[in-house]
Amino acid sequence: MKKLLLLVAAVSFSLGLGLQAVQAKDAPADGLKVTNYGKKAPVTFDHSKHKDLSCETCHHKASEGEYKCGDCHKASAGDAPKFKDAAHKKGMGKCYDCHRAKGAKKKLKCNDCHKK
Ligand code: HEC
Ligand code: HEC
Ligand code: HEC
Ligand code: HEC
Repeated sequence: MKKLLLLVAAVSFSLGLGLQAVQAKDAPADGLKVTNYGKKAPVTFDHSKHKDLSCETCHHKASEGEYKCGDCHKASAGDAPKFKDAAHKKGMGKCYDCHRAKGAKKKLKCNDCHKK
C-alpha cells in the first residue's frame, strides 16, 4: 500500500512537471517593442488589444515554446520568411488581413505601427 502511494505520488509529480513545461505563457505587458532589423521605427505591440485571438494565430511556434518572432524571422529570408513579409506581406503576413488589406476592419497606416 505504501509502495502504491509512493508510485502515485511519483507519477503525479512528473505529470505536474510535464504540464508545467507545456503550459502556455502569459502575454507580455503592453508597449512591447517588437524586434526591429530595419530603418523604420520599431513597432509597438499591445497584446491586450489582441486578447480575443488565440496565441497560435500569430505564435505558430508556440507549441515549441518559441514566442519571439525575431529569433527566427530576420531582416532577410532564410529558413523563415523575412520579418517584414511575415508581418505585412499580402497573403502571408500575420498582421495583413486585419490591418493592411483593403477594407480591413482596423486599417492602420505605417506610422500607427511604426511609431516614431
Ligand atoms: C499592422 C502594423 C504594421 C503596419 C500598418 C505597417 N507595418 Fe511595417 N512592419 C510591421 C512589423 C511587425 C514588422 C516586422 C518588425 C520590424 O522589422 O520592425 C514590419 C517591418 C517593416 C519593414 C522592415 C523593417 C524595417 O524597419 O525597415 C519595413 C521597411 C516596413 N515594415 C515598412 C512599412 C510601411 C512603408 C508601411 C506602410 C505602407 C508599414 N510598414 C505598415 C508592422 C506594420
Ligand atoms: C496578433 C498577433 C499576436 C497574438 C494573438 C499574440 N502575440 Fe505574443 N507577440 C506578438 C508579437 C508581434 C511579438 C513580438 C515578437 C518579437 O519582438 O520578435 C510577441 C511577443 C510575445 C512574447 C515574447 C516577449 C519577449 O520579449 O520575449 C511572448 C511570451 C508572447 N508574445 C506571448 C503571447 C501569448 C501567451 C499570447 C496569447 C495569450 C500571445 N502572445 C498572442 C504577436 C502576438
Ligand atoms: C522558432 C522559429 C520561429 C518563430 C519564433 C516564429 N517563426 Fe514564423 N516561421 C518560421 C519558419 C521556419 C517558417 C517557414 C516554414 C514554416 O512555415 O514552418 C515560418 C513561417 C512564417 C510565416 C509564413 C507561413 C505561415 O505560417 O503563414 C509567417 C506569416 C510567420 N512565420 C510569422 C511569424 C510571426 C508573426 C511570429 C511571431 C509572432 C513567428 N512567425 C515566430 C519560424 C519561426
Ligand atoms: C484578427 C485581427 C488582427 C490581427 C491578425 C492583428 N490585429 Fe492588431 N488590432 C486588431 C484590433 C481589432 C485592434 C483594435 C483593438 C482596440 O482598439 O482595442 C488592433 C489594434 C492594433 C494596434 C493599435 C492601433 C491603434 O493605434 O489603435 C496596433 C499597433 C496593432 N494592432 C498591431 C498589430 C500587429 C503588429 C499585428 C501583427 C503581429 C496585428 N496587429 C495583428 C486586430 C488584429
